[in-house]
Amino acid sequence: ASEAEEHDVVVIGGGPGGYVAAIKAAQEGLKTACVEKRGTLGGTCLNVGCIPSKSLLNNSHIYHQILHDVENRGIDVGDVKLNLTQMMKAKEQSVSGLTKGIEYLFKKNGVDYVKGTGTIAGEHEIEVNPLDGGEPQTLRARNIIIATGSEATPFPGLEIDEKRIVTSTGAIALTEVPEKMVVIGGGIIGLEMGSVWSRLGSEVTVVEYLGAIGGPGMDAEMAKTMQRILQKQGMKFKLNTKVMGGDVEPNNIKVNVESAEGGKSEAIDADVVLVAIGRRPYTANLGLENVGIEVDERGRIVIDQEYRTKIPHIRVIGDVTFGAMLAHKAEEEGIAAVEYIKKGYGHVNYGAIPSVMYTHPEAAWVGQTEQEVKAAGKAYSLGSFPFSANSRAKTNLDTEGMVKFITDKETDRILGIHIIGPNAGEMIAEGVLAMEYGASSEDIGRTSHEWAVLTLSKAHPTLSEAFKEAAMAAFSKPIHA
Ligand code: FAD
Ligand code: NAI
Repeated sequence: ASEAEEHDVVVIGGGPGGYVAAIKAAQEGLKTACVEKRGTLGGTCLNVGCIPSKSLLNNSHIYHQILHDVENRGIDVGDVKLNLTQMMKAKEQSVSGLTKGIEYLFKKNGVDYVKGTGTIAGEHEIEVNPLDGGEPQTLRARNIIIATGSEATPFPGLEIDEKRIVTSTGAIALTEVPEKMVVIGGGIIGLEMGSVWSRLGSEVTVVEYLGAIGGPGMDAEMAKTMQRILQKQGMKFKLNTKVMGGDVEPNNIKVNVESAEGGKSEAIDADVVLVAIGRRPYTANLGLENVGIEVDERGRIVIDQEYRTKIPHIRVIGDVTFGAMLAHKAEEEGIAAVEYIKKGYGHVNYGAIPSVMYTHPEAAWVGQTEQEVKAAGKAYSLGSFPFSANSRAKTNLDTEGMVKFITDKETDRILGIHIIGPNAGEMIAEGVLAMEYGASSEDIGRTSHEWAVLTLSKAHPTLSEAFKEAAMAAFSKPIHA
């Protein structure tokens, strides 16, 4: 190994958690290196996750809308054809622009970018096996931040080849539109990627073990509404259904399913099967055993509230440890972990981390679901407002969905906000801010969103008027519904 180099911080993994931690550490004046084995920065999110999936979601939505939703708007188009190769190129362009952007930010902030696989060899030592196959290199670090992320959970008995039996990584790179696609798991990946291929022409069947779609964390009423909307768009759902296995034939895959309550079984034909049953922490070759760092029964690295393992200067953030597997959650933890190193304190408000599902319409939420509030035995009030009564949504002929507030019955403090609607992913930011500041629904309901009364006026017509009216519904009455 080459001579050891001393850094204040070495980050292992260059995803949203790791690259943000590295930039923040360098900004704080710490000598920082980031080890990444992929060959590009940005991790799962930029390379094979958030960014490519959102590119395909956006462009497949435009295609679908041109096919099915422009004539009524007074736009006649000729022959509409899908150019999948170009759609994939557009996706690759977004990915490469953004991953290179992170490399630029590393240079700008003075982060050493080390390309290779990092293995913790000792409490202050990381051995790096370079990507280009050269001599291993040893980095010495006062502090180590592990941000090695997650990988798709495999389905026993269905071997992933990323062509016919795919995870999300194969699903964002198919070279033709499958005639029939079976999606195992009706969580966020299943619904986003299922939407993409359904819009592009596949017959998509989603098989979900539980009685509701949306994965953990989605409000039950919203999950039902979303299912109805996606069914109208052509997706099929088999809920309360177990996948037992599959028979891979030369031109077909038979997916064998059985009712979760036992009994009825059937086989569903597919050209492509998407396995989307969750993701699991990724710690292969990380060398945790060399220093005795523990993982829990689900493979998550065990940490305390300051992101420390039992070796206090080795901290862990993002998908590889506890909590929601979301890019912005990993980023916030990256900043907080560095603040702990530099200043001795840091903070992430886990009660105010939004989730967005980028279907059309989008679903977005923050805080607790109604079923969680109910289970906690808390007295609560509800306020909701449909987009069918919102003037901007009506003008746009895009009226599906609603905004729903859940508030504490006694204090009116907001406990959760759930939105299905056009632009829900942007609108939820207002809810996050409200929850961060401990707002009540009345605080929001009395803030002018559309007309010039009481306070600063916001523009009309806007979709955010529905947000205000749902808050009004929670503490008094909305005007427009
Ligand atoms: P990762 O992004 O997984 O990064 C970890 C990095 O560490 C990887 O690049 C890996 O190569 C590297 N690494 C691992 N081990 C080593 C090692 N020993 N040495 C060197 N490098 C190593 N989240 C959202 O918030 N919004 C979305 O819209 C969204 N869409 C998604 C869509 C899909 C299809 C998928 C799969 C995920 C999506 N996510 C989304 C989740 C999001 O991608 C993750 O939560 C996020 O990437 C986690 O960041 P991370 O830094 O913890 O890990
Ligand atoms: P998920 O946890 O959201 O959903 C998995 C679904 O599969 C659940 O509904 C579960 O009940 C079901 N399931 C599990 N085992 C099954 C089985 N054997 N048969 C049938 N159904 C089964 O996981 P998903 O969709 O794989 O996504 C992984 C993570 O990636 C998510 O937790 C999310 O954090 C992140 N992600 C975030 C996105 C976003 O923020 N827009 C987009 C895509 C992914």
